[in-house]
Amino acid sequence: MTQEPRELTDAALADWNEALQKASPRQLLEQAFERFERIAISFSGAEDVVLIDLAARLGKPVRVFTLDTGRLHSETYAFIERVREHYSIDIEVMFPDAAAVQDLVTKKGLFSFYRDDHGECCGIRKVEPLKRKLATLDAWITGQRKDQSPTRAEIPLVQRDTALAAPGATLIKFNPLANWSSQRVWDYIRGNDVPYNPLHEKGFISIGCEPCTRPVLPGQHEREGRWWWEEATKKECGLHITNIE
Ligand code: ADX
Ligand code: SF4
Repeated sequence: MTQEPRELTDAALADWNEALQKASPRQLLEQAFERFERIAISFSGAEDVVLIDLAARLGKPVRVFTLDTGRLHSETYAFIERVREHYSIDIEVMFPDAAAVQDLVTKKGLFSFYRDDHGECCGIRKVEPLKRKLATLDAWITGQRKDQSPTRAEIPLVQRDTALAAPGATLIKFNPLANWSSQRVWDYIRGNDVPYNPLHEKGFISIGCEPCTRPVLPGQHEREGRWWWEEATKKECGLHITNIE
């Protein structure tokens, strides 16, 4: 039976989050799909493929979308296609508003994020298309983990997304891998023959857009490969702005 997100009070959400601490990501997904019909996985084309694998094993139809910023690595595009074929699923590809991108690059060039910080470009290429998608959903599922970034150290397994909900709407956000370490994710990928982005074999850990992502050296934190010209405590692109609000 599905339930309107509106019925989930803050206290009920806190209780649910508490109860989920003992559940596996698979069990969390089961509960999430049970509760919401209008729910989808937000897939970045990196190690969050684990979410798709877990959902596929539940044997339920899984809705997946990805945000094509126009600046992804060719390896990531190929990987998204591989995942689509491997799991025989549709992956809805969300594109940014063409006029907004055109305006930005005409006025500020193709690499304005190195000068102006990444907020404006991410806003156009990621956040607006994401909001457009989320307006059609009651809940979304992300691959965020606590160990990914100082900004994510406290993320719950389930939360209300106040930042990206459409005006007057309630939106629930699930982070089923929040308590998993990178090691655990990779043990799962290797142990279950899950396809992965070949960029991971070239020193990339956290993968985003090509101009804003670089490989990291042994011992460096994965987030150091993202927007490396900016401070670690501010490295959220707007998708997960609730983490630093
Ligand atoms: S980001 O905000 O810094 O870019 P990150 O790469 O760590 O996010 O990914 C965390 C989660 O955000 C992913 O597991 C995924 O759910 C979502 N996400 C990030 N980038 C995308 C994308 N391009 N398309 C869809 N979801 C994404
Ligand atoms: Fe633009 Fe870089 Fe953000 Fe991608 S990560 S949307 S290229 S600023």
